[in-house]
Amino acid sequence: MSALSELYREIALCQQCEIAKYRINVVPGEGAEDADIMFIGEAPGWHEDQQGRPFVGPAGLYLDELLASINLKREQVYIANVIKCRPQGNRDPLPAEIHNCRKWLERQIELIRPKMIATLGRYSMAMFFPGKSISKIHGTAQKRDNTIYYAMYHPAAALHQQSLRQTIEEDMLKIPSLLAQAEIMTEAKQQPQQLTMF
Ligand code: URA
Repeated sequence: MSALSELYREIALCQQCEIAKYRINVVPGEGAEDADIMFIGEAPGWHEDQQGRPFVGPAGLYLDELLASINLKREQVYIANVIKCRPQGNRDPLPAEIHNCRKWLERQIELIRPKMIATLGRYSMAMFFPGKSISKIHGTAQKRDNTIYYAMYHPAAALHQQSLRQTIEEDMLKIPSLLAQAEIMTEAKQQPQQLTMF
């Protein structure tokens, strides 16, 4: 069993939060185990809870379109959420739920080791850009520890607010050049290691 499948098995057994009792399916995340980019949303909604897969409702269809705009398919990226169970009535995740679920996301990041992490919406942004405001930092990237962190609006927000549609679409179009930079960063990091072999 791959380390990621083992992690999914552990996540499925988690009953730390009250919402675990009401879920139909846990929604750990999905995508390429060696993805260069990981997208992190907020929490599963109704559709995701039904299917046990992230971003499969209207926001997910829009995310697929956004990915297609940069010639990516969802199978080529990794998609996860801050919390893995659906909050009832699609309420916002509670601080305790975010805290309890954080370990799972951290382990996903450790296993996938993406070159770039794109946060979708306020909740995942808060994990990687604490204290920042999404209206100020969306479409901007920060390089830390050899990873590029990139803040974006949530696709559901853009679906509900026409004015954000153009913004999220423009922000998505910046990803390929950031990924190319991430590639250069990775190569530069590997260079001294290769040299020490001789
Ligand atoms: N919204 C999210 O944040 N995540 C999903 O998986 C679906 C909708």
